Amino acid sequence: MKILLTGGAGYIGSHTAVELLNKGYEIVIADNFSNSDPKVLDRIKQITNKTFVHYEVDVSDYNAFEKVFIKEKIDTVIHFAGYKAVGESVKLPMMYYENNLMATITLINLMNKYGVENCIFSSSAAVYDSSVARLLTEETPLSCTNTYGYTKLMSEQIFKDAARANPRLSIVLLRYFNPIGSHESGMIGDNPNGIPNNLLPFITRVAIGKLERLSVFGNDYDTRDGTGVRDYIHVVDLALGHIAAIDYCKEHKGAIAINLGTGKGYSVLEIVHAFEKASGRKIPYVFTARREGDVDEYYASTTLAKQVLGWEAKFGIEQMCASAWNWQKQNPDGY
Ligand SMILES: NC(=O)c1ccc[n+]([C@@H]2O[C@H](COP(=O)([O-])OP(=O)(O)OC[C@H]3O[C@@H](n4cnc5c(N)ncnc54)[C@H](O)[C@@H]3O)[C@@H](O)[C@H]2O)c1
Repeated sequence: MKILLTGGAGYIGSHTAVELLNKGYEIVIADNFSNSDPKVLDRIKQITNKTFVHYEVDVSDYNAFEKVFIKEKIDTVIHFAGYKAVGESVKLPMMYYENNLMATITLINLMNKYGVENCIFSSSAAVYDSSVARLLTEETPLSCTNTYGYTKLMSEQIFKDAARANPRLSIVLLRYFNPIGSHESGMIGDNPNGIPNNLLPFITRVAIGKLERLSVFGNDYDTRDGTGVRDYIHVVDLALGHIAAIDYCKEHKGAIAINLGTGKGYSVLEIVHAFEKASGRKIPYVFTARREGDVDEYYASTTLAKQVLGWEAKFGIEQMCASAWNWQKQNPDGY
């Protein structure tokens, strides 16, 4: 069974590639390396001792991407390719709409043309109106606070419409909560360019001495310690969720949205302390103003994922922090 991973050289894609190869799947990676390093491909091969084909291609470029469908007989696509920086998306909305939406539309057109029926899409908890509830179920109203979130919500709608028009399609829209951590080898990991947007890469850069201190946005939230609470999920658990979704696609048609989270919330300070314990390093921090659009607390309902995918997250926060540190320590300058 051959799985095409768009954006497969990225953080979540590379971890999913490893788990797929370990389970005996054949994979093809299509990535333009706009936010990743080609070196990751060799790391995946070293970890798994397996090989695979890759294409350096922009998946929003129909003619270029079509060559992959002509050459490879694809069973299922996992569509990771897209830009993901929330702040940047607000500053450069057209760049985000153009890349994220055109990638999705081009992919669906090619799937329809070449008879590829199964697709798993990287959606996000950013599609929820997280101001209405702390426990977010797949039924929670949808609404976004930034362009990035809208590219995910619109892509979900495009997939749903495509599945309605072509009843042979099987689409799983996976709404990730906050993926953190790394493969146990420490050879692949989250490697953002410049100042990280997300909490864990920021903390690991402080720990390694590349950044002076962590800025904690707001300490007056209605939470246990005043800092924002989110649901963090180990990236390897997330990767395994995709494999469960591949099995689901074989048996079901239509489009379904499913949360991938742990169902547990941790505050920013709880994450800082867990990281300090795992790494033995002190993380200096300062409280700064709240970020626009941030809410007190939210975490995933995991019931649907358990029911329909038979999947649940296994790793705890200690392992998430220890593995993030292991990656940063072994790769202080990234790839
Ligand atoms: N990391 C998170 O916190 C998070 C949370 C929710 C959803 N997601 C989504 O999951 C997916 C994967 O996230 P990630 O953290 O691995 O991001 P990432 O940036 O590490 O990986 C995305 C990959 O897609 C590639 N890419 C981007 N546009 C492309 C294009 N037009 N053609 C070909 N390749 C292209 C990049 O080079 C990169 O390798 C993204 O769609 C992201 O929006 C991520």
